Amino acid sequence: MTRPQENRKLQIEMGFYSKHIFPRLVELSLGRGPVRDERRAALAPLHGHVLEVGFGTGLNLPCYPSQVTRLTTIDSEMMLPGRVADRIARTRAPVRQLKLDAGGRLPFEDESFDGVVTTFTLCSIGEVATALAEIRRVLKPAADYVFLEHGRSDDPRIARLQDRFNPITKLIGCGCNMNRPIDKLITAAGLQIAKLDRFVMPDSPRILGELYRGVAHRGGAGMEAVQE
Ligand SMILES: C[S@@+](CC[C@H](N)C(=O)[O-])C[C@H]1O[C@@H](n2cnc3c(N)ncnc32)[C@H](O)[C@@H]1O
Repeated sequence: MTRPQENRKLQIEMGFYSKHIFPRLVELSLGRGPVRDERRAALAPLHGHVLEVGFGTGLNLPCYPSQVTRLTTIDSEMMLPGRVADRIARTRAPVRQLKLDAGGRLPFEDESFDGVVTTFTLCSIGEVATALAEIRRVLKPAADYVFLEHGRSDDPRIARLQDRFNPITKLIGCGCNMNRPIDKLITAAGLQIAKLDRFVMPDSPRILGELYRGVAHRGGAGMEAVQE
């Protein structure tokens, strides 16, 4: 087989993996009951029109509080469309689902959402600083940016393991980085963290299960660089 043929075969295999296998792994690992409880706790402060960045397979849909009246969702992929359509049909609030890369300028006016949410998504957005700056831009002044993310451990021993094994999760997790300092990335985008819970996800290895759950607001400052 020639090199271009080999590359084409690899692309097809990776395409199959990211379209059919990875979304099912996401469902298995992030659709479990204990994770659903953490989702519910994270989303509780939200109300009004909410933007969800990195919608995935819609696992957050049953976890939104009744005060959320409208949802706009974006994701660079359209995963498991049949299953997602069923979940949307069962959701009380109207859902507008857009296929969009969060690493560029979002097609929304400044200050247009009552809340923005990311869950298990900041790990895999390539241009994460731009995405967070855009989240800040589209938040109304008193709105909540709610996050439930996994990331870098505060324990240097675990953080070293995360750095060592990051290339593996990046490959099998379709770009997932387990060693990102989530709180530092959020504050570097000019957002002010009002509440932050740090804990390890139940039944999860520490290198993957170091969670950051919290709420941030627009704050007054702009962006600064952060070392990932
Ligand atoms: C691990 S999944 C989590 C999905 C969902 N948020 C959840 O909690 O189940 C990460 C999601 O981020 C999405 N994603 C990654 N990079 C993105 C980008 N640049 N723009 C938009 N979505 C992105 C992926 O397509 C995937 O749906």
